[in-house]
Order: sequence, then C-alpha cells, then structure tokens
Amino acid sequence: MSRWLALKWKARHHAATLVGDTRSYFGLLYGCVLAVWVAYVSHRLTHVPPGGFCADAPPNWLSTMGENVSALPVEVEFGGRLRFMSIWTTDATHWADRNVRGVESVFFHHPNASLTIYSNKLPASAVGAIASLGFDVRVLPYNLTQLLHGTPAAPWLGKLSRWEQGPYFYTHVTDVIRLALLFRDGGVYVDTDVVLVRPFRIAAAAVVAAAELEERQERQKRRGARDGAQPVRAWRDARAAADVADERNASAGAAREPLPLAPHSLGAEAHTVSDTPIVNGAIMVFARGSPFLWGAMREFAGTYRDFEWGWNGPELLTRVRRRCPHNVSVLGEERFYPFHWEEVALYSTAGHEAANEAMWRVIEQRSYAAHLWNKKSAELPLHADSVYARLMRAFRVLPDGVAAGKAGGTHAAAEARAHQLVADGIAAGAVL
Ligand SMILES: *[C@@H]1O[C@H](CO)[C@@H](O)[C@H](O)[C@H]1NC(C)=O
Ligand SMILES: *[C@@H]1O[C@H](CO)[C@@H](O)[C@H](O)[C@H]1NC(C)=O
Ligand SMILES: *[C@@H]1O[C@H](CO)[C@@H](O)[C@H](O)[C@H]1NC(C)=O
Ligand SMILES: *[C@@H]1O[C@H](CO)[C@@H](O)[C@H](O)[C@H]1NC(C)=O
Ligand SMILES: *[C@@H]1O[C@H](CO)[C@@H](O)[C@H](O)[C@H]1NC(C)=O
Repeated sequence: MSRWLALKWKARHHAATLVGDTRSYFGLLYGCVLAVWVAYVSHRLTHVPPGGFCADAPPNWLSTMGENVSALPVEVEFGGRLRFMSIWTTDATHWADRNVRGVESVFFHHPNASLTIYSNKLPASAVGAIASLGFDVRVLPYNLTQLLHGTPAAPWLGKLSRWEQGPYFYTHVTDVIRLALLFRDGGVYVDTDVVLVRPFRIAAAAVVAAAELEERQERQKRRGARDGAQPVRAWRDARAAADVADERNASAGAAREPLPLAPHSLGAEAHTVSDTPIVNGAIMVFARGSPFLWGAMREFAGTYRDFEWGWNGPELLTRVRRRCPHNVSVLGEERFYPFHWEEVALYSTAGHEAANEAMWRVIEQRSYAAHLWNKKSAELPLHADSVYARLMRAFRVLPDGVAAGKAGGTHAAAEARAHQLVADGIAAGAVL
C-alpha cells in the first residue's frame, strides 16, 4: 500500500518536473544563488580567524616612517614624548574656544608631547597661538583611502560613494580613522572636546594590573564594614563620596601618583544593569599594532550601518571588547567620562552648586580627563562655578584673552604659568 503511494507520488513528481514550467527552474536557480550569497555574506561578517576575533593582526606593519615595526616595549613606545592625536572632519567654522582649551590641556600636562590634528578642513591657524608658544602641535591632512589601505577596514571603501550620502558619514570617518591611526602610530587619541585633567602615565600591563590590585585592596580596607551590593554607578553615590574623602585623607601629605594606564585602554561611559561596561572611544590609549584595533577595523567594514550614529563607533568598541576581552582594558567611568552626556546641563548651568562641587572633587581625585560631550553641550551657557567653566579655566597654557589664531608669550612662559597654576592650587587635585 505505502509502496504504491510512494510510486504514485514519484510519478506525479516526475510528471510535474517534466512538464515543469520554466518558472520553477528559475525559482530553484534563484534560491541557490541566494543561499550561496547568504553563506558568503555571513562568512564575511562572522569570519573569526583561528585563535580568536582579534588574533590575526600582522606581526609587522609599516610605520609612519616607512619601516616595518613590531610591538615595542611600553617604555620605548610611550617613553619620553607622548604622542597625541585628534581628528576634525567638520567645517572649520565650528572650531571653538573649548576645542582650543582641549589642546591647551594636552600641553598643560605634557609640555613635551606632540599633538597631530588630522583634518582636511582646519587651517593651521586654528592652533597657531599654541604652536607659537613652542608646543609641538600641527594640523595634517589625511587621505582616507591611504589610511585604510591594507587594513581590514579597506573593503568599506568599496561603497564609499554610497556611504558619503549617509547622515553621519563624517562621524563614521572619525570612528574608523582613529582605529587606523592608532594601529599604525600608537599613542593617545583624544576627541577635540576632551579636557585632560592630569598627566597620562602609561605603563606595561603587568605594572598596571599590580597597581590596580593594590588600589582595590586599599579601598576595600578603608571601606571596612560599609559593604554590600555594588550600585551601577558606585562612585557617585554617598558611599563613593565617602571613598573620595577617604582617598583625600589617605593621600594628604604624600603626593600620590595616579594609577598608570595600560597601553591598550578605553573608558566606560556607563554600565548596563548587569554591570557590563558601555565603552566610548573619545579617549583611547593604544600601542601600535594592537590586535584589538585590528579586530575593530574588521568589525567596522563587516557590519557598517550608514544610518546609525553610534553603531560604528562606541557600540562597535563595546561589541569588539566582548569578543577580545584580553586585548583591551576598560577603565571605570570616572577616569575619562566622570559625567554622562545626559548630565551636561547639570554640570554647566546655574543652580546646582552642591552637585558641581562634588563632581569637581571626583574629577580632581579620580579622573584623567573629562569628555565635554560637545554634541550635547556646545550650546549651553556656562555658569562661572560650574564644572564646565572650571574645566575651561584650569588647564590653560595661553594667557587670558588670547583666542585661537593670536600669538603671545613663549613655551617657557607657558610652562611657568602652568606650574604657577598648580602651585596656586587651581589644579591641585590634578597632581595628587
Ligand atoms: C615588511 O614585512 C613584510 C612581511 O611581514 C614584507 O613583505 C615587507 O617586504 C616588509 N617591508 C619592509 C619595508 O621591510
Ligand atoms: C621636556 O624636555 C626637556 C628637554 O628635552 C626636559 O629638560 C624637560 O625635563 C622635559 N619636561 C618634561 C615635563 O618631561
Ligand atoms: C588619496 O589617495 C588615493 C590613493 O593613493 C588617491 O587615488 C586619491 O587621489 C587621494 N585622494 C586625495 C583627495 O588626495
Ligand atoms: C577625613 O578627614 C576629615 C577632615 O579632614 C575628617 O572629618 C574625616 O573623619 C576623615 N575621614 C576618615 C575616614 O579618616
Ligand atoms: C590578545 O589576547 C590574547 C588572548 O585572547 C592573548 O593571547 C594575546 O597575547 C593578546 N595580545 C595582545 C598584544 O594583547
């Protein structure tokens, strides 16, 4: 019986195939092509090299000087003169005083550093006043094609004319070229709306880990019985305020070195409820040739979305960190992002004295830098006692009244001025 049914089905099927209208053949063909395409695309997107997502960074790469280099010891890579870089892709008319303050803060803390602002729009005069003091700051043009050439982000260039139509194209250009530049040159990347609060001391990963452990133990000891579940933004509640007071007491008298930074550091801008860091890329410290950056460039080309602002930037770094947790350190929020972008009004406008005072103490004690979140804060008026206004005043190398483009003073005079400010206690927290 069942054999008879099977035969009947076979016959009918055979007939159908023979009669077979050409449409079903096309359907089949189409299906096959689609399947192959889906398999190809998903392979491209999910391809993970043997050893892990970030494991295939080349052991040699061409440096800016044109020679092959491989990983250098941290003392060589970051010793002596620290290399800073920034990117400016929008119109020069948006370059404002606060961007100059950011540049000043780099040299306030690192008079011997170099800072290169990669921009095809900004004139050299944007940093002319600072350069004329003798600080090593320059604006250099970039070529997107050349920068991404040979990196896993290069396939993205294939549809460049389409991506250029996207609403966030220039933001996404800064997202990807900071990865390529840091991979090639190493150093510290800072957005143009970042103010440095203390000198960046960069040390080998093992040194950093030991220092962190020591700090954690010390803090736990001081915290004593005040334990319990960690709140999501621990350092901001009352207990964290007590911690700050404790740290101040502990460090009173003895100047205290800030915790060193690992040569592969990002900062968390917030944490999810399950305590997973949400990473931001406004400040990035990396030795050249970082496998994390290589993986991030692959992720950029493989998953690019032209209509999503954060997908290719902070969200990308957050995704790649989950896949390469051993090739990057994520610092607590207070180190680079002491206040969140949702709080910019609180820390710039009048009427919140206590909150501003408390935040300033956190910044003095525990931050390396503060991101101004310019996109959210640029239009806000600054109250004189606000955290924002203080960040604008505290780390200057230009004399008052000197705006971008006008020169005055000397390198030595600016350095003396910086030291005077520290001596005056304006930046006292920054040197604890
Ligand atoms: C750099 O190294 C690669 C192999 O990793 C080699 O093919 C290339 O010729 C080298 N270039 C220079 C300038 O030494
Ligand atoms: C900067 O460099 C000069 C000379 O190279 C040196 O004397 C000075 O100590 C350096 N300053 C810092 C802060 O490293
Ligand atoms: C960038 O570099 C590519 C490749 O070297 C070159 O074809 C292109 O003309 C350059 N673009 C600009 C704007 O210079
Ligand atoms: C820290 O110092 C302040 C006064 O300077 C004092 O009131 C407070 O009790 C001290 N805290 C600890 C934990 O020692
Ligand atoms: C990257 O992480 C892997 C482990 O996932 C580790 O074996 C490797 O040494 C790391 N490399 C660097 C340069 O951090």
